[in-house]
Amino acid sequence: MNADPAARLAAQRTLSDGEFVGLLSTDRYDADLFAAADRTRRSVYGTDVYIRGLIEFTNYCKNNCLYCGIRRDNRNASRYRLSGEEILACCEAGWELGYRTFVLQGGEDPYFTDERICSLVSSIKERFPDCAVTLSIGEKSRASYQAYFDAGADRYLLRHETADPGLYGRLHPAEMHLDNRIRCLYDLKEIGFAVGAGMMVGPPGQTAAHLVEDLRFLEELQPQMIGIGPYLTHRDTPFAREQNGSLSLTLRLLAVLRLMFPRALIPATTALGTIHPEGRELGLKAGANVIMPNLSPADVRKKYELYENKLRVGGDNAADRSELERRVEAAGYRVVVDRGDPK
Ligand code: 5AD
Repeated sequence: MNADPAARLAAQRTLSDGEFVGLLSTDRYDADLFAAADRTRRSVYGTDVYIRGLIEFTNYCKNNCLYCGIRRDNRNASRYRLSGEEILACCEAGWELGYRTFVLQGGEDPYFTDERICSLVSSIKERFPDCAVTLSIGEKSRASYQAYFDAGADRYLLRHETADPGLYGRLHPAEMHLDNRIRCLYDLKEIGFAVGAGMMVGPPGQTAAHLVEDLRFLEELQPQMIGIGPYLTHRDTPFAREQNGSLSLTLRLLAVLRLMFPRALIPATTALGTIHPEGRELGLKAGANVIMPNLSPADVRKKYELYENKLRVGGDNAADRSELERRVEAAGYRVVVDRGDPK
């Protein structure tokens, strides 16, 4: 047996809890770990980087998550909703620039009833039949998820946030429950969506043992997509005075995830690009293979402020699009025009 945990992970063995804790209890920059993850990534996806056009269509939210800048109780948030025409215009611009996946992300906004969501999804699918539609609109009933799927939605992102009930309770108000979130993820999977789960790295109270619980949960769920990013503070939340998560621990976790889930679609997230100017490139080199540039109109982009100093770079114009391409190439990869379905 190979004594090196990273090498054993690369050989598709799982590790003991203690070994995972060992990998995640330091935030040392580990070139060997990242290189192993990059080899695994290249063996499945080559140098391909998939791009997703992110449309943040509403920042109204009925939830009150303690870490999030668009939580219900934040009176300083300037709220907006995009109209159906505005959303379609974002897709149109995105299609011209080579996006073949549109991600509709929003707070849990009761204005967007199932009927409105279904009608949006079916108009996008009708107009752009060669594109995938991803929804990221929170916890719903199984019947609602089924309706979105029947309307043509292909994928659904719903981070579990943490698989530890105690930590979940510290990060969320009493009316939210980990059990329901997990129920949602399994419903989505059973219905036939490609499903994305994930967690923040470094929110208040999180330990390496919590992250190991997340890895075990992900092993069970086997999601097609896994989104992680550093926790970043926001002045208008109860966590305003807390520390940001760590860049290098996030990178280590990305690498571990790539080794555990060779075929997963793993984004180098906006939060990663926010905590460090080259965060997304570093994420790609640690095993990520997806980037989600923002297609929302520039004037609403700053209002979708989950955390402070959110990276503003868009993807909705040709200049930003070529800049992205250049940066991805400089990191050793290539942006492809493709739906980027899970392999
Ligand atoms: N810092 C980092 N990520 C955050 N999210 C929400 N608030 C923050 C924050 N303050 C993440 C959550 C959510 C996703 C859309 O953004 O994990 O699921």
